[in-house]
Amino acid sequence: MAGLIPDSFIEELLARSDVVELIERRVPLKRVGSEYQACCPFHDEKTPSFTVSPRKQFYHCFGCGAHGSAIGFLMQYEGLEFLDAIEELARAAGLEVPTTGKQQPRPDTGLYDILAACAKFYIEQLKSNPQAVEYLKGRGLSGEISRDFEIGYAPSGWDGLIKQLASDDKKLDMLKQAGMLSEGKSGVYDKFRDRIMFPIHDRRGRVIAFGGRALSDDGPKYLNSPETALYHKSRELYGLYLARQRSGRLENIIVVEGYMDVVALAQFGFRNVVATSGTATTAQQVEILFRAADSVVFCFDGDKAGRKAAWRALEATLPKMREGLQAKFLFLPEGEDPDSMVRKHGGEVFAQQIESATPLSEFFFDHFTGVTDLGSLDGRARLVQQAQPFIETMPEGVFRDMMSARLESLAQHRLQGHQPIAKTRPAGMTERGKPIQKRTAMRTALAHLVQNPGLVAMVDDIGEFAEAANEDIQGVEIFRELVDFCAKRPNITTAQLVELWHGHPALPHLQKLAVWHLPGEEDKQAQEFIGAVNRLRLNWVEILLSRVTNIIEQREEYRALQTRQQALKNHLEGKQD
Ligand code: UTP
Ligand code: MN
Repeated sequence: MAGLIPDSFIEELLARSDVVELIERRVPLKRVGSEYQACCPFHDEKTPSFTVSPRKQFYHCFGCGAHGSAIGFLMQYEGLEFLDAIEELARAAGLEVPTTGKQQPRPDTGLYDILAACAKFYIEQLKSNPQAVEYLKGRGLSGEISRDFEIGYAPSGWDGLIKQLASDDKKLDMLKQAGMLSEGKSGVYDKFRDRIMFPIHDRRGRVIAFGGRALSDDGPKYLNSPETALYHKSRELYGLYLARQRSGRLENIIVVEGYMDVVALAQFGFRNVVATSGTATTAQQVEILFRAADSVVFCFDGDKAGRKAAWRALEATLPKMREGLQAKFLFLPEGEDPDSMVRKHGGEVFAQQIESATPLSEFFFDHFTGVTDLGSLDGRARLVQQAQPFIETMPEGVFRDMMSARLESLAQHRLQGHQPIAKTRPAGMTERGKPIQKRTAMRTALAHLVQNPGLVAMVDDIGEFAEAANEDIQGVEIFRELVDFCAKRPNITTAQLVELWHGHPALPHLQKLAVWHLPGEEDKQAQEFIGAVNRLRLNWVEILLSRVTNIIEQREEYRALQTRQQALKNHLEGKQD
C-alpha cells in the first residue's frame, strides 16, 4: 500500500505536519522538559506514560508500547487505514496526494460519489413513499433518527436507480462496481427494490454499502451489498461512524447484530451502538472496537445461535485483551433482540442490563464448566485441556495471568498435588512478554541514529565496514543502510524515517530502538553514539586481524608443507636412481 505513495511525498507530508499539534487536538498534552506527556489514549492509566517528542515527531507509551508517527497516530486513534491517514494529513497540510507511475491509488474515488448519490436518491424516494414512511413509524422510528442514519427507501421498480443515476455506460459500470445492480439474462437491474435502505458508512463517514430491509414478505428479509472495492464486510461495523462522530472516544461501545437494533437503541438515547450485520465478529472488528473504546459489550440473543455467536466473538476478542480493556456479554431472553427489549422495557432497564452484563472471564469459564464435571479428576483434566489453548491466545499481562490462575484453581479444586498450569515465563522475556534487549554496541549505535538521524554527520567514512557481513557483526548490514540513508537526508525526523522504511524487514527492529530510553543531554548522547560506532570499528578490526593471523599461520603451514613435499620428492627420486 505504501508503495502507491511516493516516499518523497510521505517525507514532505510529515515535514509539514506536527505530531504534537495533531495529538494535542485529541488528547490534552502537558509539556515536560523537551517533550509532552499525557495519560495514554490507548490504554487505561492514572499516571501519564504517553510521551510525544517534537524533535522525533514520534509518540510512545511506556505503559502499553504504542508508538509511531503522525500517520501512525491517525491510524491507531481514528482507526483509519494507511491511505486514509495520508489523505487526512494531506488535507490538513494543504497538500495534494500524488500517485506514483501509472497506477492510480484510488481507482474508486468515483465509487464514493456514486454511492453518495444512491443514498441521496433513496432519501428522496422515502419522502414520496407514504407506505415506507408508515413502516418506519410503525417500527417506532422518529423522523430525527431516520435523518441521522440517512435511512431511505428503494422504490419497487426494476430500474429506478439506473434511470436516475446511470446517464451513460460509464456511470452504469460504476453502479455495477458499487454493488448496486443485479445481473440477469436480459441485462442489469436495480439490486434493491421495495426496501428500507440503511447506508453503511466507513470510518470517515463515506457511504460504502447498503443494507436493505424488505417491506413485504417477498424474498429475503435483508439484502446487503456484496463485497466491493470499498466494502469489506469483515472490517466494517454498522453505526460506528455516527457513534464516533457524536463523541470522539467512547467510554463504552455496545455491539448488536442488526441494523434495526442500532437504530432503535439510538432512538432511546444509546448512541454508542454498532452492528456486525448478522455475521460472526471478526478479529479486525474487535481491533476496531478497542480502538474506539476501552470497554465493549457484546449483546446477543439468549438462544443457542446467540450463545454460539457470543463464543465466536469471545474467541476473536481474547488475543486483543490488553491491560485496561474490558469485554462483557449480555444475553437477552429468548425471542428478544435489543430493539424489542428496549421498546418493551425502556432505556433504563436496558442500561441496567448493559451495566450488569457478564464479564468475559465469567462467560469463558461458564462455557467450559457447563460441559465438564469438575467433581471428577477426568473432568478437571479435560477442562485444562480445553481451556488452556484459548488462554494461550491472549497477550501476556495481568489479565492473562488472572485467567491462568483461575483455571489453575478450578482444576486443583479439591485435588492435591496436581501439576500447576500457569506456565513460567520463558527465559529472556520481560514481564510484559517483550524480549529483553541487551544493549550491544550495534543496538546503541542504531538506536541513536534512529532517534536522532542528524547524528550521522558525526560518523566519518564507514567504508571500512563495506566487506562486513551480519555473520561478522550482527546488524552491520542495517547499520550500513541506515547510515547511508541518514547521510542523504540529515534533517529527517524519526517519524519520517520510520514511515519511509515501511515494509523494510528491519523496521520492526528499528521501531523498538526508536523508543529505547537514551538518557543524558544531547552532547552526551553524541558521545555515546560515537563511542558505540568506534566500538564497532574495533570489533571489525579485531575480526580482520584474526583473519590475517590465520593467513600468516597458513603461510607458515604452507612453507612447512612445501618443505615436506620437496623432501619426499627428493627421497623418491633418490630411490629410483
Ligand atoms: P435479524 O433477523 O435479527 O434482523 O438479523 P433485525 O435486525 O432484528 O431486523 P428486524 O427487526 O427483523 O427488522 C440481524 C441482522 O442480520 C442480517 C442483517 O444485518 C440484520 O440486521 N441479516 C438478517 C441479513 O443480512 N439477511 C437476512 O435475511 C437476515
Ligand atoms: Mn429485530
